[in-house]
Amino acid sequence: MKKETHIIDSTKQDTSEKDYSKYFQTTYQPPSLKDAKRRGKEKVQFHKDFTIDEDLQNIGVGKKFMIRTYGCQMNEHDTEVMAGILSDMGFESTTDTNEADVILLNTCAIRENAENKVFGEIGHLKPLKLEKPGLILGVCGCMSQEESVVNKILQKHQHIDLIFGTHNIHRLPQLIKNAIFNKEMVIEVWSKEGDIVENLPRVRKGNIKGWVNIMYGCDKFCTYCIVPYTRGKERSRHPEDIIEEVRHLARNGYKEITLLGQNVNAYGKDLEEVDYGLGDLMDEIRKIDIPRVRFTTSHPRDFDDHLIDVLAKGGNLVEHIHLPVQHGSSDVLKLMARKYSREHYLKLVDKIKTKIPNAVFTTDIIVGFPNETDEQFEETLSLVKEVEYDMAFTFIYSPRDGTPAAKMEDNVPMEVKKERLHRLNAVMNEIFLKKNKALVGEVVEVLVEGESKKNPDVLSGHTRTNKVVHFQAPKSMIGELVNVKINDAKTWSLNGELVKTVEVSQ
Ligand code: 5AD
Ligand code: SF4
Repeated sequence: MKKETHIIDSTKQDTSEKDYSKYFQTTYQPPSLKDAKRRGKEKVQFHKDFTIDEDLQNIGVGKKFMIRTYGCQMNEHDTEVMAGILSDMGFESTTDTNEADVILLNTCAIRENAENKVFGEIGHLKPLKLEKPGLILGVCGCMSQEESVVNKILQKHQHIDLIFGTHNIHRLPQLIKNAIFNKEMVIEVWSKEGDIVENLPRVRKGNIKGWVNIMYGCDKFCTYCIVPYTRGKERSRHPEDIIEEVRHLARNGYKEITLLGQNVNAYGKDLEEVDYGLGDLMDEIRKIDIPRVRFTTSHPRDFDDHLIDVLAKGGNLVEHIHLPVQHGSSDVLKLMARKYSREHYLKLVDKIKTKIPNAVFTTDIIVGFPNETDEQFEETLSLVKEVEYDMAFTFIYSPRDGTPAAKMEDNVPMEVKKERLHRLNAVMNEIFLKKNKALVGEVVEVLVEGESKKNPDVLSGHTRTNKVVHFQAPKSMIGELVNVKINDAKTWSLNGELVKTVEVSQ
C-alpha cells in the first residue's frame, strides 16, 4: 500500500533531493503562500484551444466518477467543469461511492472546520481504497493549494492517489492518466498567479439555473482570508466570452444565471486597453433574453455608481445585492484591510436604496476577529439593525495559516466568540422574520426549481430577492416562473399559494 511519493510542479525550479523529471519532465517544489503573495506584472495568458488527447478520450469508458464538492459556488462550478472533462473522457457519473472508479474531493480552505470535514472524509475513504486498490482518490480545490495540507496528506494519507490545485483543472485528463498508470502519488499544484482557459467542457447541475464565471482570483488580501493565495491574482474573462456563454444558456432555456467572481466589482480592471467594468457588462447582459441575472460576491470598496445606475434599470437584473460587510467597526475593518469604513458602507447602502428602493441586502459577517472588544462587537449589532439585512452568513473568525491575521495575538476566548455569534444570530433572525412577515399577503415571482427537500408534494423555488418559497403546484411547472401569494413567513423561508404563471417580458 505504501507508495513512492511523486511531486510535480511544472512552474518551479527543482529543489527536491530526488529528480523526477525522467518521468514527467517536470520539477518539484511545494506550493508556497509566500510565492502566491507576490503579485507579478506577468500578463494573463488566455488559452482557447482546450482539447483532450485522442489516447485519453476513451480512458474512462466503462468507469464511473464521483465528485464531492465543499465550499462556495466557485467550487460548485469548478465541479461542473471537471464533470465535463471526465465525461469527455468516457467516464459516467455516479452518486454511489461504492461503484465509483474515481472519487475527487473538491475542497474548501476558507475556515478550519471546512478543512476538518475534508480530512474526515479522506479517512472514511481509506477502507474503500484498501478493498478496491484500483480506485483513484483525488484531492483538488483550494486546500490543495496550501503547503501544509499537501504535507499532511503526504505524511498521513498515503492512500490518496492524486492532488491537484485550482490553476490546472484543465490538466485533469493527463493527471487521471498519470494516477491510473503510476504507482506513486501524483501531485501537481501550480503556485502561479493563474491564466484563463476558455472552451472547457461542462456538465451543469440542472438546466434551470446556471453559473458563469466572469473573473478568477482576488487581489484584495483581506488579512483573515486565504482566497488570494489559493485562487491567484484577479483576472477577468473577456466580455465577449462571457456574453457568448450567457447567450448559450439563454438559448438552452436557462431561466437564471449567476455571474461569479471572488470580487466581481473589480471585473475588468485588469483588462488591457479597454475601460470596461461590471456596470458595462451588466448593461449588455441585461439585453439578453434570460429572465434573471445575479452576481456574487461584491466588495463594498469597488461598488461604483455606474453599476448602481445599471442595476436600477431592473428588468432581468434582480434587486438582490449580496454585500459582505464583515464587521461593523471601522477599527476592525481597518485591521481586516477591507479598505472601507463603517460610514462608507452605510453610505453605499443608502445610495443603492435611493436608486433601487426595493433592493434587498444580504451579507457575510465575521465575529471574534483577534482582539475584538465588546464595544466593537456592539457596533456590528448596531450596523445589522440599521441596514436590516434579509439574510446573512455569520462566522466565527478562523485563523488561516500564512495570512496576516493568523499572526495577530488574540485575547478573545473561544467561549466569548461563540456567545457573540449566538447573540448576533438572535438579532439577525428577528430581522429576517420581520422582513419575511412583511411579505405576507403579497404576490411574488418565484422560479420553480423542484420538489421541496422535506416534502415531495410541495414545490420550492426562489424569489428575485433570493428568498425560498414553498407552495403546492403541479410538477410540470418545474422550470417556470410563477406568481405565488405569500400566506406564511418563517425566519428562513416563505409559504404560499400559486396564483398564475408570470408572463416574462424583456
Ligand atoms: N474566518 C472566518 N470567516 C471567514 N471568511 C473568510 N475568511 C474567513 C476566516 N478566516 C468568511 C467571510 C467571507 C465568507 C465567504 O467567508 O465572511 O465573506
Ligand atoms: Fe477574501 Fe477579501 Fe478577496 Fe473576499 S475580497 S475573497 S474576503 S480577500
